[in-house]
Amino acid sequence: MKLTVIGCGYLGATHAAAMAELGHQVLGMDIDPDKVVSLNAGRAPFFERDLDDLLAKHTATGQLRFTTSYAETAAFADLHFIGVGTPQKPGEMAYDLSHLFSAVRQLAPRLTGPAVIVGKCTIPVGTAPQVIDILREFAPAGDQVDVCWNPEFLRESSAVEDTLHPDRIVLGLTGQGTRAESVIRQAYGKIIESGTPVIVTDLATAELVKSAANAFLATKISFINAMAEVCETSGADVQLLAEALGHDARIGRRGMRPGLGFGGGCLPKDIRGFMARAGELGADQALTFLREVDAINNRRRERMIDLAREQCGGVINGKNIAVWGAAFKPDTDDIRDSPALAVAQKLHQLGATVTVFDPKALDNARKAHPQLEFTDHPLGAVRDADLLLHLTEWPEFARLDPEAVAARVAVPRVIDGRSTLDPDRWRAAGWTYRALGRP
Ligand code: UDX
Repeated sequence: MKLTVIGCGYLGATHAAAMAELGHQVLGMDIDPDKVVSLNAGRAPFFERDLDDLLAKHTATGQLRFTTSYAETAAFADLHFIGVGTPQKPGEMAYDLSHLFSAVRQLAPRLTGPAVIVGKCTIPVGTAPQVIDILREFAPAGDQVDVCWNPEFLRESSAVEDTLHPDRIVLGLTGQGTRAESVIRQAYGKIIESGTPVIVTDLATAELVKSAANAFLATKISFINAMAEVCETSGADVQLLAEALGHDARIGRRGMRPGLGFGGGCLPKDIRGFMARAGELGADQALTFLREVDAINNRRRERMIDLAREQCGGVINGKNIAVWGAAFKPDTDDIRDSPALAVAQKLHQLGATVTVFDPKALDNARKAHPQLEFTDHPLGAVRDADLLLHLTEWPEFARLDPEAVAARVAVPRVIDGRSTLDPDRWRAAGWTYRALGRP
């Protein structure tokens, strides 16, 4: 099939490459010319495992191309996926939907024949009908343009795998047996044939599934981090607690790793956007618990600062603090709402000299936080450090020899914000080892 993907960030670029991998002819569209040049050269403008391989493979044959032109996009196919960003409005809880509405307004007047528009971005419930209104108003093809809402559940760091092998496909449709449904089932044919469940819903339910899924995931993380707070006051160990809870299949261990909490471009803004929308709908009481989920998450960052202060003898001002990790999670260079950088930034404000190392996110971190020190080696970060903070659990940190690290610091003190360093090894190498939620 021929199809386009409008908006080529983490979601769109991955979707475009994955659709080419499924055998389709794909045109990706983005308004950022630099991004388009990079993607056409077979390189993502961000780090995502396996994505460059797919981009290189399919741009080389011409099966996958990228453009900045809406005219070319509209003319290329009659199936258009929309994967533009829906960030949080600055200073507000609600979503900024301007990219979505702008993309639909640009596309609509160019839709002269039957077309299917498939929304993939995360939106507040009730947005898809607004997209339909714009299409009805501006598309010459009128009601021959069908809309489907098909939320995307990919995780950064496993985006390609998640797109090609999703847990489920949710199709929000305007009615039964629409053209949109048969077209999208055909587009996802290989994925569906491999046994992936397809759940067909109305538009509102499909919009809500994504909000609800992210709210649940955030709640699960904050639940175990709330338990970490109780462990800290009672002498219990949240890692063992999580393991014991996780053996109950109804609870499950996945997505329940205690630590410094969640960040990134999705969970924090999605729970806030969900609360804001519930408020508009008069259902705010239903989601007030998400305020607490957000608050628990932010308290983990404060707790890390408190522990750092305690480890530094009560005074952070003037201390050398090494920070391992800048990305919001391992295996990505994304620093949006990164818990690690939030902690690093706060320590800097409190007067510490903070030196950050991250395997992939250094460039992004440097641009966003020029006041911090950066180094391109984990051992460089710890030179003369009074304290080491392990804040993003890249596997290479756990593999480093704690004795070699100890030889470079001023004082061997470490706080493990993600509990993936081996306490016994680090203590045996002379370190004072502390971790969130553990005695
Ligand atoms: C999330 C959802 O998982 C995905 O389905 C959705 O499409 C987009 O939002 P992502 O933001 O890529 O994906 O990352 P995820 O792996 O969910 O992690 C989010 C944050 O939570 C990270 O900061 C991570 O470190 C943290 N986290 C995750 C925990 O603290 N504990 C966990 O058990 C899992």
